[in-house]
Amino acid sequence: MIRVNENYLKLKASYLFVDIAKRVSAFTEANPEKKVIRMGIGDVTCPLPPVCVKALHDAADEMGSENSFKGYGPEAGYAFLREAIAENDYRARGCKIDPDEIFVSDGAKCDTANIQELFSEDIKIAVPDPVYPVYVDTNVMAGRTGDNENGRYKGFVYLNSTADNHFVPDLPKEKVDLIYLCFPNNPTGATIGKEDLKKWVDYAKANKALILYDAAYEAFIRDESLPHSIYEIEGADEVAIEFRSFSKTAGFTGTRCAFTVVPKKVKAYTAAGESIDLNPLWNRRQSTKFNGVSYPVQKAAAAVYTPEGKAQVKATIDFYLENAKIIREKMTSLGFRCTGGENSPYIWVETGEDSWNFFDKLLNGAAVVTTPGSGFGSCGEGFIRISAFNSRENVLEAMNRIAAVLGKSYAE
Ligand code: MLT
Repeated sequence: MIRVNENYLKLKASYLFVDIAKRVSAFTEANPEKKVIRMGIGDVTCPLPPVCVKALHDAADEMGSENSFKGYGPEAGYAFLREAIAENDYRARGCKIDPDEIFVSDGAKCDTANIQELFSEDIKIAVPDPVYPVYVDTNVMAGRTGDNENGRYKGFVYLNSTADNHFVPDLPKEKVDLIYLCFPNNPTGATIGKEDLKKWVDYAKANKALILYDAAYEAFIRDESLPHSIYEIEGADEVAIEFRSFSKTAGFTGTRCAFTVVPKKVKAYTAAGESIDLNPLWNRRQSTKFNGVSYPVQKAAAAVYTPEGKAQVKATIDFYLENAKIIREKMTSLGFRCTGGENSPYIWVETGEDSWNFFDKLLNGAAVVTTPGSGFGSCGEGFIRISAFNSRENVLEAMNRIAAVLGKSYAE
């Protein structure tokens, strides 16, 4: 008899963004004349930087010629891209990361989901609340939790991120082995300073724990006192794996390219206490289960690091950040407390009422899609997340519609 992985039965029926999509399609079916403005899922709207498009074309030409055609590439990525990442994202910030510590992939979502395969089933895991649902759901699938009770899975240590701690969780009171952190944060848009991040690195060192640091939104950091990488903290290369993505940085959500940094010093331990290097283990996993990102896409990603690429990416991110500023200011002027939107494309809005009710109010009244905070965890109840990935015209129209549906006018 074929048996099912019963851990899947512990999960909520569908992924958060699938739930939202269902409500939105019910709304559009009932209201075909209404123009829906989507500020829910963080999907980019600006086209690829021209320098990336040119690289894609050139690489496609190479693939069409017998002399330059390429078959399977190296599973961990072409040297030209790994070198460019190590140089520009790390060495330029004083972090000693080598190209062979960088693993190119098709997405930070997949990597943050897959990395848990390297760890024992019985480890203690700390996850922030609210949290990007992938960290939680993939560990549920792997059998590391009990059932979900009142919105929380038994077995996790939840790290509350609330207004009281400025949405930067405190260290856990109990000993944990694996810690997920994400800054600039999805969903709250909060950032972490070097001093606070150092506390986590020190904790991980003292407890032989490992930090999984999701920095997919680092390109949105404009406050230069903030760390872009956890490796800006001394010793983090012994206790942290970092995830990055070209999705939000350079508009690759549909093109797919990301990377994960597994430093050679990072270790996990056997039950007998023997230390095992994680870099060769991740290499083993990727070379067994993954055939690499296509050559044209890696060429496009490498183009991000050229002088023109850097300027084009900065211009696009500046544009989204201006959207974020508009959203944050408008929602604040409507009387809502907001976090994020300054070094992040997400604005976390305290609604003062049930998240899904507020979501429905904005969808049904203003035809604006947001993300209900409770979908990210129980500490997200009473919040919505608004994404700044949109055209300026849509952002302004959405803010006007929201003000109208809430029966308020801007206090400006
Ligand atoms: C989000 O809206 O949280 C993100 O787009 C999801 C993702 O990057 O997978």
